Amino acid sequence: MEDGAAQRGTGADGVFGEIRVFVPGAHPRKSAGNSGSVALVGAGPGDPELLTLRALRMIERADAIVYDRLVAPEIVALARPRTQLIYVGKERNRHTLPQDGISALLVRLAREGKRVVRLKGGDPFIFGRGGEELETLADNGIPFEVVPGVSAANGVAAYAGIPLTHRDHAQVCVFVTGHLKDGTMDLDWDALACPRQTIVVYMGLQGLATLCRELVAHGLRATTPAAIVQQGTTAQQRVVVATLATLPEHAKAAALVPPTLIIVGEVVRLQAKLSWFEPAAEHARSRPGARHEDSTRAG
Ligand SMILES: C[S@@+](CC[C@H](N)C(=O)[O-])C[C@H]1O[C@@H](n2cnc3c(N)ncnc32)[C@H](O)[C@@H]1O
Repeated sequence: MEDGAAQRGTGADGVFGEIRVFVPGAHPRKSAGNSGSVALVGAGPGDPELLTLRALRMIERADAIVYDRLVAPEIVALARPRTQLIYVGKERNRHTLPQDGISALLVRLAREGKRVVRLKGGDPFIFGRGGEELETLADNGIPFEVVPGVSAANGVAAYAGIPLTHRDHAQVCVFVTGHLKDGTMDLDWDALACPRQTIVVYMGLQGLATLCRELVAHGLRATTPAAIVQQGTTAQQRVVVATLATLPEHAKAAALVPPTLIIVGEVVRLQAKLSWFEPAAEHARSRPGARHEDSTRAG
């Protein structure tokens, strides 16, 4: 059967409809002929060795790579010498290129017939705006595919020695963004402040005090274990473990800088026993740097 071929059939509800069958390994969104395409690729949380084999293959054959701030330079350096490298990193309140501009850039590069890799930190579908960029590509008829990456939640937790679920401590794990909007965090506090649940907070450093205060105000004990991990999976990794009552002051004393990930819940207690990663040993592993091309000079 052809890739993406449609068949008529009976669904589970007994209603006749169209069933699409996709053959594993085939790519329904890939175009025929010379038109370009975009691969939305997750680069993992920091340690370049967490890159997937598929991501490596896409990077090695790319004509252009459009990459973010949190992508490890060692990963960008895997590109072929003639690959066009375009940095579009966003920092708090400072965007090299606005989101619309990035999406438009992807469309333009693909229309030039290029194999484009849109390289993002972690996983592109977790707080990565991957969906938004794909919507623009779909609207413009650009073929695309997605290569998932190790997200900060699972990569950073693993290197910090904090299992996100555990039969004795947490049966639920939620990922939220702690990004502050107008100085507040728009979160469902009642849903978050539940026992036997691990909360992973992306982009939460600025709002850490608010986060801890609200979780306690909505029912979690002030003694609930909580951790914040800076630059997890890298040689710069730092882990601060405390409680909801004390984490903000400990994090401040440690003068942590982004990127950081916050983990709240009983599983954090296991860190003392399960910590295994030695950031200092990472320094011994030296890797080549990457070539940067500012977005203003993009192709
Ligand atoms: C815009 S989000 C992108 C998340 C990414 N798509 C992912 O799946 O990990 C960026 C946030 O991810 C978290 N993050 C990414 N890499 C990290 C790392 N190495 N250590 C700690 N936090 C990290 C931080 O909270 C950072 O502010």
